[in-house]
Amino acid sequence: MSSLTTSSAFPALDNLHVGIIGLGYVGLPLAIVFAKHFRVTGFDVDEARIAALRAGIDRTGEATPQELSSENLDFSADRGVLRDCKLIIVAVPTPIDQAKQPDLRPLFDACRTVGEVITEGTTVVFESTVYPGATEEDCVPLIESVSGLRCNRDFFVGYSPERVNPGDPTHKIETVVKVTSGGTAETAEFVDSAYRQAIPAGTYKAPSIRVAEAAKIVENTQRDVNIALVNELAVLFGKMGIDTLQVLETAGTKWNFLPFRPGLVGGHCIGVDPYYLTHKARQLNFHPEMVQAARRINDDMGEHVAIETVRLLLERKLTPPFRTLVLGFTFKENCRDIRNSRVVDIVRKLRGFNVAVDVHDPEVDPRDVRQEYGLELRETLEAGTYDAAIVAVGHKSIREMGVERVRRLLKPQGIVFDVKGIFPMDGVDARL
Ligand SMILES: NC(=O)c1ccc[n+]([C@@H]2O[C@H](COP(=O)([O-])OP(=O)(O)OC[C@H]3O[C@@H](n4cnc5c(N)ncnc54)[C@H](O)[C@@H]3O)[C@@H](O)[C@H]2O)c1
Repeated sequence: MSSLTTSSAFPALDNLHVGIIGLGYVGLPLAIVFAKHFRVTGFDVDEARIAALRAGIDRTGEATPQELSSENLDFSADRGVLRDCKLIIVAVPTPIDQAKQPDLRPLFDACRTVGEVITEGTTVVFESTVYPGATEEDCVPLIESVSGLRCNRDFFVGYSPERVNPGDPTHKIETVVKVTSGGTAETAEFVDSAYRQAIPAGTYKAPSIRVAEAAKIVENTQRDVNIALVNELAVLFGKMGIDTLQVLETAGTKWNFLPFRPGLVGGHCIGVDPYYLTHKARQLNFHPEMVQAARRINDDMGEHVAIETVRLLLERKLTPPFRTLVLGFTFKENCRDIRNSRVVDIVRKLRGFNVAVDVHDPEVDPRDVRQEYGLELRETLEAGTYDAAIVAVGHKSIREMGVERVRRLLKPQGIVFDVKGIFPMDGVDARL
C-alpha cells in the first residue's frame, strides 16, 4: 500500500487513549499491560463479562482483582466509549464453523463497530488471527463503507498477532516478543512505538501486514504438522507394540530432533488457524496437501483413543456394558478453557459404542461444559467403579492425583489409558 501520511498524522504517545474491542483471553491481558502506560477503555458485547470485570472478577483466571482495578483501565458494553480512542485494538474471536470454514462474523461485527466510532487520525490494529490478506482485503473495505473515511488517508490500520498462551506462567504477553505491522511505513512505526512502550519483551516490526498475518498462521500450522507426524507415528507404533514416548525420548538425544509429543489438538489456535490458511489457499485454487493431512490426522486422534480403549477392554476379555472415566476436559492443561476441546471426540465415540462415560475435570466450571456441550461433569468419584480411566488432560491437579489414586477408581482388571503420558509407563496400560 502506498503511503499518503506523514508521521504528524499520528497522536503523541503521552496522552494516547487506547480502545480494546473484545476482552477475552487475548484482549484482557492486553488491556492490562497497555493500562500500565496509557489510558485504556475495553469494550465487549458481553454485558455479563463487563459487569464481572468491573466487579474485579475475571472468569478466565488470567487477571487478578488488583490488575482489574487499575485507575487507567475501564470497561464498557457501550461502543460509544471508543470514540475518543486514537488507537483501537481488535481482539475478537475468529473461530471456525461446523464445516470448518472461517466464521468471520465477530470480526466483521467489530469492523462495523470501528466504522461507527472512528474519527480522522485513528489507527486500528487487528490482533485476531486471520488468513493473510484479511485485514486489508476484508476489514478495511468494511470500515471504509461504514465510516465514509479512507484508509491510509483518514484512518490507518495495523496487525499485531497474539502469542499469549493461557495457563502458561512463562509465555505471557509481557515476556514474549510482539510482532507489529502497519499499512504504511509511518503506521508501522506508530503501532510499533505504542507496543514497544507497553510490551517489556519488545517488538519485531514485520515488513507488512500480510507478512505479520501469515507469520501468525505459520507458527501454529508448523506445530500442527509436527504434532500430526508424531500422532501418525503413535498410531503406527501402537500397532507394532512399540512405546512412542520411549521412541521420541531416544530419538530426542540427537541434537536436531524436535521434541513434539502425540496428543489431541484442540483449542482456538493450533486446531483452527490452519483452516484459515486452507480456506484462503482454496480461493487461489491451491490445495496445501501437508496442512490438510495434518488437520485430518489430528482431528481423528480422539476417535483413535476411544477405539483403542474399547479394543483393550475386549482384549482383556472384560464384558460390556463398560463404564469409563475421562479425566480432564479442557483443550490443554492448567487452563479452564473448554472451547474446541477434542476430548469431546473421545466421549462421543465411546457413547456411540454404548459405553458409559463420566467426565471429571477439577479445573472447569461444570456450567460451562453443560452450556457448551450439554455434558454433565462428575464432581465426586467412587472407588472401584470404572472399567477404564482415560487421562486426557495433564492438569497439575490430575498429575497430583497420581496413578495409584486413578487405579483405585477402577474395577479389577480395569485399564488406565494415559493419553498425555503424565504417569510412569509401568503404572499404566496404554499411552499414545
Ligand atoms: N486464546 C488464545 O490463546 C489465543 C492466542 C493467540 C491468538 N488468539 C486469537 O485472538 C483472538 C481472540 O481470542 P480469545 O481467545 O481472546 O477469544 P475469547 O473468546 O476469549 O474473547 C473474545 C471476546 O470478544 C468478545 N466479542 C465477540 N464479538 C465481539 C464484538 N463484535 N465486539 C466486541 N466484543 C466482541 C466476546 O464477548 C469475548 O469476550 C482470536 O482471533 C484468537 O484466534 C487467541
